[in-house]
Amino acid sequence: MKLLKQLFWVSLTLGILLGVVELFLYDVVKIDWVSFMEIQPSYRPMEDPLPPPSRSIPIEGAIAIPGMGAPENPTLADQASVTRGAELYAINCQMCHGQAADGNGSVAPFLIQFKPANLTSAVVQSKSDGSLFLTITNGVDGRMPALNENLTVAERWDVVNFLRTLKKAE
Ligand code: HEC
Repeated sequence: MKLLKQLFWVSLTLGILLGVVELFLYDVVKIDWVSFMEIQPSYRPMEDPLPPPSRSIPIEGAIAIPGMGAPENPTLADQASVTRGAELYAINCQMCHGQAADGNGSVAPFLIQFKPANLTSAVVQSKSDGSLFLTITNGVDGRMPALNENLTVAERWDVVNFLRTLKKAE
């Protein structure tokens, strides 16, 4: 009985000592506790979104196939498409590129380093539809934001068709 009592106290003391030591070593001796919030295919803040599975394409179709150059415009530039494009332009582009698309939007004075491009200019209008599409999709690094999350693929082509109508106005 005495032995049992002694054993109890010894193991208790050792246990407490070990616990205290562990407290200070928690950063050194890492115990991989099971924490279920982590065991799931999600991503944590500050992590990049999970890449899409290989060989998968968005439901809207491939936007541009790497190495294949600028995509072809699949949307007929009819009145409906141009009207939609004009509306989307007013919402997504006008604050920078301006109502007349000359680069004088209400935000333009605050863009000090790089002014929004004049979209009626020969420089912009000489670009292919696909090139304009990619500019809207990817933005211009450090100058213009990528708008692929604001506009669906079809909407981007509508905006391109609208931009094309600005050429004649020049
Ligand atoms: C936050 C402001 C901003 C918004 C919003 C914006 N742009 Fe731009 N855009 C810029 C700036 C700044 C440049 C000039 C980049 C440079 O100096 O090359 C530019 C350049 C361009 C160019 C010329 C690219 C080139 O290669 O010369 C096109 C085309 C264009 N924008 C179209 C659009 C369209 C269409 C939208 C809306 C769907 C849009 N932008 C929205 C700021 C903006």
